[in-house]
Amino acid sequence: MGVKLGILGLGTVGTGTVQLLQDAVGRHPLLPEIEIYRVGVRSHNKPRAVELPEGTITTDLEAIVNDPLVDIVVEVMGGLEPARSLILQALRNGKHVVTANKAAIARFGDEIFTTANASGVYVLLEAAVGGGIPVIQPLKQSLSVNRIHTVTGIVNGTTNYILTRMQNEGGNFDDVLADAQRLGYAEADPTADVDGLDAADKIAILASLAFNGRIDLQDVYCEGIRQVSKTDIAYAEKLGFVIKLLAIAKKITPSSSLSVRVHPTLVPKVHPLASINGVYNAILVEGEPIGQVMFFGPGAGAGATASAVSSDILNLVATLKTSTTSPNPLLSCGHQDYCQIAPTAELVTRFYTRFLTGDHPGVIGKIGTCFGNHGVSLESIVQTGFQGELAEIVVVTHDVTEGDFHQALAEIRTLEAIVSIPSLLRVL
Ligand code: NAP
Ligand code: HSE
Repeated sequence: MGVKLGILGLGTVGTGTVQLLQDAVGRHPLLPEIEIYRVGVRSHNKPRAVELPEGTITTDLEAIVNDPLVDIVVEVMGGLEPARSLILQALRNGKHVVTANKAAIARFGDEIFTTANASGVYVLLEAAVGGGIPVIQPLKQSLSVNRIHTVTGIVNGTTNYILTRMQNEGGNFDDVLADAQRLGYAEADPTADVDGLDAADKIAILASLAFNGRIDLQDVYCEGIRQVSKTDIAYAEKLGFVIKLLAIAKKITPSSSLSVRVHPTLVPKVHPLASINGVYNAILVEGEPIGQVMFFGPGAGAGATASAVSSDILNLVATLKTSTTSPNPLLSCGHQDYCQIAPTAELVTRFYTRFLTGDHPGVIGKIGTCFGNHGVSLESIVQTGFQGELAEIVVVTHDVTEGDFHQALAEIRTLEAIVSIPSLLRVL
């Protein structure tokens, strides 16, 4: 007997998934056992890129999650509600769920996985992070015997596209964003992408898997790319860096708490993430004993996400065919407790800062003294030129705590010569 799918959503991801499942030749031999039984949409009259038997498409999504014949619910509609309620209802009804919805998982993962565990079913989410890149299952299975200490990702294609173009063309953020919107690479409302919120959802999910605990999204420090200027990109280039929006989850020793954050970062040109350009995503996982593993590929798009969603469906089909009374620990979520998140002030990083100052004698010395007063050691401090009447001074620090650095900066702001601090970026 075939496995019946109830798919919620027939947009980019839903259509790609249906197309893949309908074209099974040359793919996994279990695919023909999958039946696209119901597909839920908002608008019945919209033209669709796929053909489905009469009666398959419906606007009654609750009927799908309550239908006793549906084995697996595939949530690819997006948004928070009604997606959350429909997922929960499907789980309560004993159905496995596949979702691409990082926003819902990052916010409601606790109740979703608790409900799944109580019902003895699985929630799989390979497409939620990195689009077509297999990274969720590798973290849950292949890499799970390692002690992971850092996960560093370029997990948002829109911002990577914008930063890559700013780097290659010397353009301003606003101009490149407008062009990216015109070309369809950026959404009309780019907030979730350019303000780092989408990347924050994704690193919360990756951190949860890598460090075996739940992550409260409010604990994820988040800075977007709006303030990255072409001037900073040019200075970074001179200093041997490119600027990337990194999502980082890192174990802090010796406390074993976590730092989970998203911010634009100067990445050394020789670092493996420096060469990830355009809309591509990459995730670097570091652990013991494996060392470094990097996952690279398309982070979005119909084909990429269809690959990830269909692989989750396949895993569940295999599970449904295996009769067992206890859950498969490689697929279920066993987390009960929240991870401890380190205060931002304790985080250690290098900083790049650009000052605009009056062209007074001794300014560089005074800035250096303020940093020294707070134990901040400098890797370089240079006056790089002038902007009108103002001198431009660029500082790169050695590793410092965020707390010490910000105290030094507070003291520097009181110096008479300081006119503004237009840039402050972290260095990998
Ligand atoms: P989309 O193109 O906007 O499609 C959404 C689909 O869901 C549409 O078919 C829409 O129906 C249906 N839908 C939305 N709200 C509904 C409601 N309240 N009731 C009934 N139907 C509703 O979205 P998408 O790009 O495929 O993204 C889907 C999910 O995948 C999101 O969670 C997204 O974050 C995630 N994701 C997307 C990508 C990507 O490359 N697009 C990559 C990774 C993850 P109509 O067709 O009738 O409007
Ligand atoms: N808006 C997301 C991005 C889509 O730009 O990466 C994939 O999640």
